[in-house]
Amino acid sequence: MKFFIDTANLDQIKEANDMGILDGVTTNPSLMAKEGIAGNKNVWKHYEKIANIVDGDVSAEVIATDFKGMVNEGEILAAIAPNIVVKIPMIKEGVKALSYFTEQGIRTNCTLVFSAAQALLAAKAGATYVSPFIGRVDDTNWDGLQLIEEIVEIYANYGFLTEVLAASIRTSLHIKQCALIGADVVTCPLKTIEGLFKHPLTDIGLEKFLADYKKVNG
Ligand code: E4P
Repeated sequence: MKFFIDTANLDQIKEANDMGILDGVTTNPSLMAKEGIAGNKNVWKHYEKIANIVDGDVSAEVIATDFKGMVNEGEILAAIAPNIVVKIPMIKEGVKALSYFTEQGIRTNCTLVFSAAQALLAAKAGATYVSPFIGRVDDTNWDGLQLIEEIVEIYANYGFLTEVLAASIRTSLHIKQCALIGADVVTCPLKTIEGLFKHPLTDIGLEKFLADYKKVNG
């Protein structure tokens, strides 16, 4: 399973990359705004910085919501670096844009996916990744992990090559559950990735080992 970090913060991207376990980055307009990046040119420069830090795929989201606008913007984004993946929202015009980019050999990530039916459409349009949002589904009292299960099953039924990129991950437990289900990728904030390290018995055990070492070595 690939690990992507869900942020536009360069320090956090570097920190995750330095761990040697990072396979890519996802961003969205809200995450860019959180870093105070405004204006298209600055946004594009920022994508270039991110794409230079990591070897893996970096999802860069279009702002346009019409086919022509998405195509224009997507082509600019794709030209920034070879590891940029154009992120397109799951709307009718977005599906058209996904099909267009598939024909052009430009890789895509279909975002804002909340149902298996939407994921089926994204795969039909040839999306490289599909991003179902677990946490936001859970917030509505539906089951985000069940959504991942359904998409994984549908894609396996028909041999779709679209990778299931589980997004909107809120807990380290979500990561483990996605791995059990067979999601291809998880994208999560740094603190959620760091949560995977933690186990109280590891801390207690390490403390004891070091104390015992000190007893005989001073
Ligand atoms: C995915 O690509 C999105 O950027 C992200 O995972 C959304 O997460 P949120 O629901 O925590 O905003």
